[in-house]
Amino acid sequence: MQRSLFVGGPDSVTNSLVNNSLSSAVEENIQLAAAKAFALQVGMTHPDVIKIDTEGCELPIISSMIDSFRNAKAIYLEYHSEDDRLAINNMLSQTHILFFAKSPHPHRGEMVYVRNDAFPTIMQRDRWRIGTVLTAENRIEEPKTIGQDGPRFTQDWSRFLESSLTKLSPSTPVSPMKVLEIGSFEGRGTRLLFKKLVEHHEESRLYCVDPWVDGYVPGKSQHFAKWDPFFVGQFQRFLKNTLDLGPQLVRLRGISDDMVPAIKDPLDFAYIDGDHSAEQVYRDAAMILPLMKNGGIVLFDDYPWTHEGNRCGDGVDRWLAENDGKVELLFKEYQLAVRVN
Ligand SMILES: C[S@@+](CC[C@H](N)C(=O)[O-])C[C@H]1O[C@@H](n2cnc3c(N)ncnc32)[C@H](O)[C@@H]1O
Repeated sequence: MQRSLFVGGPDSVTNSLVNNSLSSAVEENIQLAAAKAFALQVGMTHPDVIKIDTEGCELPIISSMIDSFRNAKAIYLEYHSEDDRLAINNMLSQTHILFFAKSPHPHRGEMVYVRNDAFPTIMQRDRWRIGTVLTAENRIEEPKTIGQDGPRFTQDWSRFLESSLTKLSPSTPVSPMKVLEIGSFEGRGTRLLFKKLVEHHEESRLYCVDPWVDGYVPGKSQHFAKWDPFFVGQFQRFLKNTLDLGPQLVRLRGISDDMVPAIKDPLDFAYIDGDHSAEQVYRDAAMILPLMKNGGIVLFDDYPWTHEGNRCGDGVDRWLAENDGKVELLFKEYQLAVRVN
């Protein structure tokens, strides 16, 4: 699109498409292109670093190419109104942290956002942290790679899953399986479930339900704050770690209360490993029971896990007692499995 640029009187900073009190008498004819279309044209839809300073037009530009912004490792920007600052923060809050800001006026300032997973460890990100001290217990380790260029995990929270799956499904499934995982984190358990139960039949599906926010359980930081650092950047890691699994993997981003009702497929297998409060484990189990096929299996992780007096297994026990006769206990170890009849 051709437009007139009104050259600024005092300096080039006041050049503008709007003829205003700072404009000189000089006009230039210039060519304008939409940022998204231009990025596409030059093959730069997913740059690592984006700098944007468009004197108040930031919000529509960011909105028009939000995927590029959410993917960028670092974003440098200037904002030009308080509303814009809040809206931009809102748009990037799931994927980035505000790493630096200078706000000399309420309506104008600079911000630098860094993508959650751009730092390999929380320790490296929060060098000057005061307050919650990162100890050996809650420190995020360097992601460990499995194989060359394979998935990268910071934690191994699926230690027991592999042996449970071998016990529950010793041979290759003979027919398509519909599988649900509540609480997928970085995808380590997801990959085990996929390999053991899903990959053999094209019609098989693995539904992964997780809010994937940068903390353990949304809205429950007062109970689980100690664990929150483990979850910073989990969504980006999950996406990378499961990219190769294709359309058989269905990502349902949200808490189980909201996402499980969206599943219409009758389920062969459900793995419950989300919010470990007894109350939510009970709710998750109660929600999925009507979805389970006759003969379907429900597996609970962390049955004995106890934190601040909350024992995960209390929710399982309550559900078992209420469904005595309908569910048959297969084993009760660190994980607990039942068959639904
Ligand atoms: C222990 S991790 C899961 C580990 C994973 N299954 C694995 O094998 O690596 C617990 C996960 O539950 C998720 N979560 C927390 N509250 C949830 C909820 N209400 N519904 C679904 N997932 C939830 C967290 O985001 C976290 O990723």
